[in-house]
This record gives sequence, structure tokens and C-alpha cells, in this order.
Amino acid sequence: MTDSLTADAADEALEIPQVYTHHVFCCFTQRPPQHPRGSCGANGAQPLWERLGKKIEATGRRDIAMTASGCLSFCQAGPIMVVYPQGVWYQPRSPEDIDEIVASHLVGGKLVERLIIVPRV
Ligand code: FES
Repeated sequence: MTDSLTADAADEALEIPQVYTHHVFCCFTQRPPQHPRGSCGANGAQPLWERLGKKIEATGRRDIAMTASGCLSFCQAGPIMVVYPQGVWYQPRSPEDIDEIVASHLVGGKLVERLIIVPRV
């Protein structure tokens, strides 16, 4: 096998089909409580993201994914999450907010307008 054939096979193996209808990125950044930038972690993100993961799993939907992300640059407003491919940025504040995002947006396809922090273009 030549090097180019090996490279082609490797590229094929790494090609991931677009299988998600919704892919949620959640900021897991944790800075100290007095840090001037603030952070999602310092604003209580962890229990919300744990609930989000469990709620997504409970849907049984394999086309909804959740990925931990680093800072998404809205630190003071955290906890912050963004849902693609729609590009919707949410600021959930409570477990009930998480439940609503899952039921309404991720399962039902209807945005939760009251929790959106970045106007969509
Ligand atoms: S720390 Fe979460 S957006 Fe920056």
C-alpha cells in the first residue's frame, strides 16, 4: 500500500456523517469566584449541564448530542449553551429552564425565546 492510499483510507475512517438534528455545546469553564471575567462554572453551570445530559439521554434520541465546551465568550452571562445547526444561544437559569429547552427546542423544534441571549441573524 502506498502512502497516499493509506492517507485516503485514514481520511475515510475519520469522516463522520452529519447525523445530529441538534448539537448542544455547553460551557464548562470554571474560574475562581472573584475572577473579573466570571465563568459559567462559577455561576452554577455544572448541575444544569448534568440535568441536560440526563434529559437528553431520557429522550432516547440518538440525533441529539451534547458536548462540553470551553469558554464561549459570554462569561458574565453564564451558564451559556449554544445549539447547532440553528445557532441559538441560551442562558438557562434553573432546572426547569433546562427541561423546557429539551422538550420545546430539542424534541419539539420550537425555540424557547425567553431564554435566548443572542439575537439570531
Ligand atoms: S466562561 Fe462560559 S462563556 Fe466564558
